[in-house]
Amino acid sequence: MISSATRARIDAEIAKYPVKRGALLPALHHVHAELGYVSHESAAAIADIFDLRPVEVMEVVSFYNMFFDTPQPRHHVRVCTNLPCSLRGARTLLAQIESHLGIEAGQASSDGRIGLGHEECLGACAYAPMMRVNDRYHEDLDVEKAKRILDSLE
Ligand code: FES
Repeated sequence: MISSATRARIDAEIAKYPVKRGALLPALHHVHAELGYVSHESAAAIADIFDLRPVEVMEVVSFYNMFFDTPQPRHHVRVCTNLPCSLRGARTLLAQIESHLGIEAGQASSDGRIGLGHEECLGACAYAPMMRVNDRYHEDLDVEKAKRILDSLE
Protein backbone atom coordinates (compact mmCIF):
# COMPACT_ATOMS: atom_id res chain seq x y z
CA MET A 1 0.00 0.00 0.00
CA ILE A 2 0.95 3.64 -0.13
CA SER A 3 1.32 5.71 3.02
CA SER A 4 -0.40 9.05 3.36
CA ALA A 5 3.01 10.79 3.26
CA THR A 6 3.89 9.10 -0.03
CA ARG A 7 0.44 9.83 -1.39
CA ALA A 8 0.98 13.51 -0.59
CA ARG A 9 4.33 13.43 -2.43
CA ILE A 10 2.67 11.80 -5.43
CA ASP A 11 -0.07 14.44 -5.46
CA ALA A 12 2.61 17.14 -5.39
CA GLU A 13 4.31 15.49 -8.40
CA ILE A 14 1.02 15.28 -10.29
CA ALA A 15 0.50 19.01 -9.77
CA LYS A 16 3.73 19.67 -11.72
CA TYR A 17 2.54 18.04 -14.93
CA PRO A 18 -0.10 19.12 -17.45
CA VAL A 19 -1.06 15.46 -17.88
CA LYS A 20 -1.34 13.31 -14.77
CA ARG A 21 0.45 10.37 -16.34
CA GLY A 22 3.58 12.50 -16.67
CA ALA A 23 4.08 12.02 -12.94
CA LEU A 24 4.04 8.22 -13.09
CA LEU A 25 7.82 7.76 -12.90
CA PRO A 26 8.25 10.23 -10.02
CA ALA A 27 5.38 8.49 -8.24
CA LEU A 28 7.08 5.13 -8.65
CA HIS A 29 10.30 6.61 -7.28
CA HIS A 30 8.42 7.75 -4.18
CA VAL A 31 6.86 4.32 -3.67
CA HIS A 32 10.22 2.71 -4.23
CA ALA A 33 11.87 5.04 -1.72
CA GLU A 34 9.29 4.06 0.87
CA LEU A 35 9.18 0.29 0.39
CA GLY A 36 12.38 -0.56 -1.46
CA TYR A 37 10.29 -2.07 -4.25
CA VAL A 38 6.93 -1.69 -5.95
CA SER A 39 4.62 -4.36 -4.60
CA HIS A 40 1.61 -5.53 -6.56
CA GLU A 41 -0.59 -3.81 -3.96
CA SER A 42 1.31 -0.56 -4.48
CA ALA A 43 1.03 -0.94 -8.24
CA ALA A 44 -2.73 -1.34 -7.88
CA ALA A 45 -2.89 1.81 -5.73
CA ILE A 46 -0.76 3.72 -8.26
CA ALA A 47 -2.99 2.45 -11.06
CA ASP A 48 -6.03 3.85 -9.23
CA ILE A 49 -4.38 7.24 -8.86
CA PHE A 50 -3.31 7.40 -12.50
CA ASP A 51 -6.41 5.83 -14.04
CA LEU A 52 -4.36 2.94 -15.37
CA ARG A 53 -4.60 -0.81 -15.10
CA PRO A 54 -2.18 -2.41 -12.60
CA VAL A 55 -0.52 -4.29 -15.45
CA GLU A 56 0.33 -0.97 -17.12
CA VAL A 57 2.07 0.16 -13.96
CA MET A 58 3.97 -3.12 -13.70
CA GLU A 59 5.01 -2.78 -17.35
CA VAL A 60 6.75 0.47 -16.41
CA VAL A 61 8.27 -1.09 -13.29
CA SER A 62 9.65 -4.03 -15.25
CA PHE A 63 11.04 -1.79 -18.02
CA TYR A 64 13.42 0.20 -15.80
CA ASN A 65 16.21 -1.59 -13.97
CA MET A 66 16.10 0.87 -11.07
CA PHE A 67 12.68 -0.45 -10.06
CA PHE A 68 12.04 -3.82 -8.44
CA ASP A 69 8.81 -5.70 -7.89
CA THR A 70 10.04 -7.95 -5.09
CA PRO A 71 11.65 -7.17 -1.71
CA GLN A 72 15.29 -6.25 -2.14
CA PRO A 73 18.51 -6.21 -0.11
CA ARG A 74 19.01 -2.99 1.81
CA HIS A 75 21.92 -1.88 -0.40
CA HIS A 76 22.44 -2.42 -4.10
CA VAL A 77 26.12 -2.62 -5.01
CA ARG A 78 26.85 -2.59 -8.72
CA VAL A 79 30.38 -2.73 -10.08
CA CYS A 80 30.80 -1.40 -13.60
CA THR A 81 32.46 -4.07 -15.73
CA ASN A 82 32.26 -2.38 -19.10
CA LEU A 83 35.43 -2.05 -21.16
CA PRO A 84 36.99 1.17 -19.78
CA CYS A 85 36.45 0.02 -16.18
CA SER A 86 37.64 -3.49 -17.02
CA LEU A 87 40.83 -2.09 -18.51
CA ARG A 88 41.40 -0.43 -15.15
CA GLY A 89 40.85 -3.62 -13.16
CA ALA A 90 37.10 -3.75 -12.59
CA ARG A 91 36.79 -7.49 -13.16
CA THR A 92 39.52 -8.22 -10.64
CA LEU A 93 37.91 -5.73 -8.28
CA LEU A 94 34.54 -7.47 -8.64
CA ALA A 95 36.14 -10.84 -7.90
CA GLN A 96 37.81 -9.35 -4.80
CA ILE A 97 34.48 -7.88 -3.66
CA GLU A 98 32.78 -11.24 -4.21
CA SER A 99 35.44 -12.87 -2.08
CA HIS A 100 35.14 -10.20 0.61
CA LEU A 101 31.35 -10.52 0.80
CA GLY A 102 31.26 -14.27 0.30
CA ILE A 103 28.72 -13.99 -2.50
CA GLU A 104 28.85 -13.83 -6.26
CA ALA A 105 27.45 -11.11 -8.50
CA GLY A 106 23.74 -11.71 -8.82
CA GLN A 107 23.42 -12.82 -5.19
CA ALA A 108 22.53 -11.14 -1.91
CA SER A 109 24.21 -11.54 1.45
CA SER A 110 22.38 -13.92 3.78
CA ASP A 111 21.54 -11.06 6.15
CA GLY A 112 19.82 -9.17 3.33
CA ARG A 113 22.24 -6.28 3.73
CA ILE A 114 23.92 -6.23 0.32
CA GLY A 115 22.89 -7.31 -3.14
CA LEU A 116 25.88 -7.51 -5.48
CA GLY A 117 25.88 -7.21 -9.23
CA HIS A 118 27.62 -5.64 -12.14
CA GLU A 119 26.44 -3.13 -14.66
CA GLU A 120 27.43 -1.78 -18.00
CA CYS A 121 28.84 1.72 -18.33
CA LEU A 122 27.54 4.09 -15.70
CA GLY A 123 28.97 7.13 -17.44
CA ALA A 124 31.92 7.65 -15.11
CA CYS A 125 34.62 6.04 -17.28
CA ALA A 126 37.14 8.80 -16.51
CA TYR A 127 37.08 7.67 -12.89
CA ALA A 128 37.37 3.93 -13.50
CA PRO A 129 37.09 1.56 -11.86
CA MET A 130 33.89 2.51 -10.15
CA MET A 131 30.82 1.09 -8.49
CA ARG A 132 27.39 2.35 -7.60
CA VAL A 133 26.04 1.82 -4.10
CA ASN A 134 22.35 2.57 -4.25
CA ASP A 135 22.25 6.06 -5.82
CA ARG A 136 25.83 7.01 -5.03
CA TYR A 137 28.88 6.59 -7.25
CA HIS A 138 32.24 5.56 -5.81
CA GLU A 139 35.11 6.16 -8.19
CA ASP A 140 38.83 5.55 -8.62
CA LEU A 141 38.43 2.40 -6.57
CA ASP A 142 40.93 -0.10 -5.35
CA VAL A 143 40.00 -3.13 -3.33
CA GLU A 144 40.82 -1.56 0.05
CA LYS A 145 38.72 1.51 -0.69
CA ALA A 146 35.86 -0.69 -1.90
CA LYS A 147 36.04 -2.86 1.23
CA ARG A 148 35.91 0.21 3.47
CA ILE A 149 32.81 1.43 1.64
CA LEU A 150 31.10 -1.95 1.83
CA ASP A 151 31.97 -2.47 5.49
CA SER A 152 30.51 0.93 6.36
CA LEU A 153 27.09 0.01 5.01
CA GLU A 154 24.55 -0.62 7.75
S1 FES B 1 32.95 1.83 -18.39
FE1 FES B 1 32.64 1.96 -16.25
S2 FES B 1 31.73 3.91 -16.02
FE2 FES B 1 31.99 3.72 -18.14
